[in-house]
This record gives sequence, structure tokens and C-alpha cells, in this order.
Amino acid sequence: MSLTAAIQSVSALVSSAKSSSFLGQGVGPETRFTSFSMPLLPSRKLSICKCVSAAPPTEQTAHKTKVARNANMAKLQAGYLFPEIARRRSAHISKYPDAKVISLGIGDTTEPIPEVITSAMALRAKELSTFEGYSGYGAEQGEKKLRAAIASTYYKDVGIEENDIFVSYLLFGANVKIAVQDPSYPAYVDSSVIMGQTGLYQKDVEKFGNIEYMRCTPDNGFFPDLSNVSETDVIYFCSPNNPTGSAASRDQLTKLVNFARANGSIIVYDSAYSMYISDDSPRSIFEIPGAKEVAIETSSFSKFAGFTGVRLGWTVVPKELVFSDGFPVARDFNRIVCTCFNGASNIAQAGGLACLSEEGLKLYGLQRVRRTERAVCVGALPGQELVDVFAEILEKTHLVTTPGSGFGPGGEGFVRVSAFGHRENVLEACRRLKQLYQ
Ligand SMILES: Cc1ncc(COP(=O)(O)O)c(C=O)c1O
Repeated sequence: MSLTAAIQSVSALVSSAKSSSFLGQGVGPETRFTSFSMPLLPSRKLSICKCVSAAPPTEQTAHKTKVARNANMAKLQAGYLFPEIARRRSAHISKYPDAKVISLGIGDTTEPIPEVITSAMALRAKELSTFEGYSGYGAEQGEKKLRAAIASTYYKDVGIEENDIFVSYLLFGANVKIAVQDPSYPAYVDSSVIMGQTGLYQKDVEKFGNIEYMRCTPDNGFFPDLSNVSETDVIYFCSPNNPTGSAASRDQLTKLVNFARANGSIIVYDSAYSMYISDDSPRSIFEIPGAKEVAIETSSFSKFAGFTGVRLGWTVVPKELVFSDGFPVARDFNRIVCTCFNGASNIAQAGGLACLSEEGLKLYGLQRVRRTERAVCVGALPGQELVDVFAEILEKTHLVTTPGSGFGPGGEGFVRVSAFGHRENVLEACRRLKQLYQ
């Protein structure tokens, strides 16, 4: 982490109504709800949580600083779910020491990164040991070549240019009301809470105040009924969605864009899983006419290139997008990126560039394998009602899943099964599930 990024993190920690926060790949190591997934079966909730890694232990010390804690941090819901899943997993392993437990819970990419990509990163790292190849701070917005490659690979036909791309985190201000798909990737809600955009958590309805939860269920095809959604400033929309796996159609996204246009909202469109779309659903919000005036898109190398550890993503902020006073969003975005972020690692960017080279893109035909796994998995999951599917699946099949309640109240009654896993494990998991539910 750069010094300014560290300072930024500290200012998010201490009390400040005006602090900014990160979304997308920059949510922080504790907020790892990684993986693409699909809906499963009704399950009794465990409780809400977004943190995977154990929090540092709390020590009782005699001395207290005068610095007030960011009150918004206290609003976040305690991290019970993943520790509870880990506890149940350990208990299960102790009970059945010989069982082959397969974890399709949190999920992560599993396949090694092709050598053409790692060689490019190694070469870049080696170059840093030479006078000719050494470089210090790079462009905060990302290296020109990589921005150009992202623009031409993903946005060639939709009029998004190199300058609209930031190889960076997405940053947002405090005084806006957000809407999220329900269920959704928890980082949207949590970063909004940290920024002070929300009210308190309301236990009875399992929602934060001042957030519009757009219910997505099998009944509405996992696309919200926009006629029930009140006006909001920022609409987070992820397609294909984590956790439902559902990709919005062109017609649905057109409705979303028209809705944002009518209400003066900005859509933050998360296309982290767009490369898993196998039908003609849009891979980018910018395929929809009029989207450039109402949308930002955030995406990542994590899932398609196995970069969950390398860390690289981008944000598209079209020059056509302006605030209510006419000021271009991209200019503020650029300012924040230059102040708080200082650019992605040059080694990671060399890897990103290699992914988008002709050879790299050919190699990532690997995605087809992933798609097959997902298809196999979805086909294996029937829709019966059960009382506690998470526990039943663990007990009877030795498979670890995730209760849907961790993704918002709309996730309740479901468990999530990650589509990321070694191919043999995913296939074995499908076999076990078929056996259990047939
Ligand atoms: C929907 C969604 N968006 C964004 C991300 C962030 O991915 P990364 O931080 O690895 O780029 C994830 C990670 O799991 C995700 O599920």
C-alpha cells in the first residue's frame, strides 16, 4: 500500500462524515466475498457478515488516544457468518476426519495463471533492477498502453476511449442515497455504511436505513421491479450478479438506464463477471444507448485472469457523465485517484497487459471451462424446500456452501454455491448434490 493509500485508510477509520471509501477490488483484505455463484435452496439464516479473515485480537490497554472512532464503523454488522461457517466446517472435519470435504463457500479462483502472463510480470519485475527499465510512480490513472488495451478489448464498439478508463479503485462521496440489488455483493452496502450514507441497521427488517434494497427473486427473474424503487442517487447493479449468477438482458438493462435517466441517478455497474456471459446479454452497460450519461462501470482481472492475488481492476467513467451542476464526474474521479490511490502496481499492470495480448486472450479460452462448470452445477441444483440446507448439505454431502443471508435480506432462504473450484471438485460436488436431492 502506498503512503497516501495508508493515510486514506486511516481517515476512513477515524470519525469523519466526509470521508471517501473504496469499492470494487479495493474494498480491503477483510471484505472478501469473492466468487461467482448461483442460487440454491432455502436455508435457515446464520447471521449477516462480510468478513472472512479473522479480525486482529483486541487488547485491553491502559492508554486511550483522543481520536474518535468513525461512528459508521460501529453500524456495520458484526462478522459472524464466515467465522461461523469456518467453525462448522472444522467441527465437521473433526466429526468426519476421513471425509473429503469440498469447499464451495467463499470461493476463489483455482487455476494457475498461464505462464505467458506470469513471465510478463517477472520480466517487468526484473526490468526494475535495471536503469533502463526502472520506473517509479506511474500515471495514477494507469499505464497508457493498458488503458488503451482495455478500451479496445472491451469497449471497442461502444465509444468508450482510453481516457475514460482508470486502472484504479472506485471512490465515492458521502451524502448520497444508494440502491442495491437484494441480494448483492456486500461491499456496496458496507462501503456505503462506512461512508456515512446510511442510517442504522434495522434488525427487524435486516436492512440499513436510507438504502433502497431492490428485491431480486426467482419470481421476477432476478431483475428488480423498478416501479417499486424510490428515487436514489447511486444505483449499484451487478450483472451477472453475485450471488444469484443472473445476467440482465438487454431489455432489462435498457429499463435500468431509462430509469436512471428519468430519476437523475448514476448507475455503478459492476461487470466483474461479464466474461462468464454465454448468451447475448450485454457484457457492458455501455452497450445500452444513453448509458454513458448515467453510468460508471467497474470491472476486474480477478475472475477471468485468476488475478485475485495479483490485484488489478478498472473503472470506466465516461466524459459524458456529469453531476447536477454540470461538472464532469471523471474530473473529480481523477482528482481522487491522484490523491488517494497513486496508481496500480507496475508489475500487476504488465500482467494485465499480457492478459489482453493476442496470446493472452487466446489462452483465456479457459473461461469456457469455467462456464461448463457453472452450467453443470446449476443443472445439479433442484429447488426443494428444506429447513436448513446449509447444515443438511454439509452433513450429508461434506460440501461447504454459504447461507444467502450474508448477501442481504433477499438472500435469506437460499444458500450460495461458488462456481469456482477445481474442476474435479465441482463435478464431484454436483454428483453429491444430485445424489442428495434426486
Ligand atoms: C460482484 C463482485 N464485484 C467485485 C469484486 C471484486 O473483485 P476484486 O476485488 O478481486 O477485483 C468481487 C469479488 O468477489 C465481486 O464478487
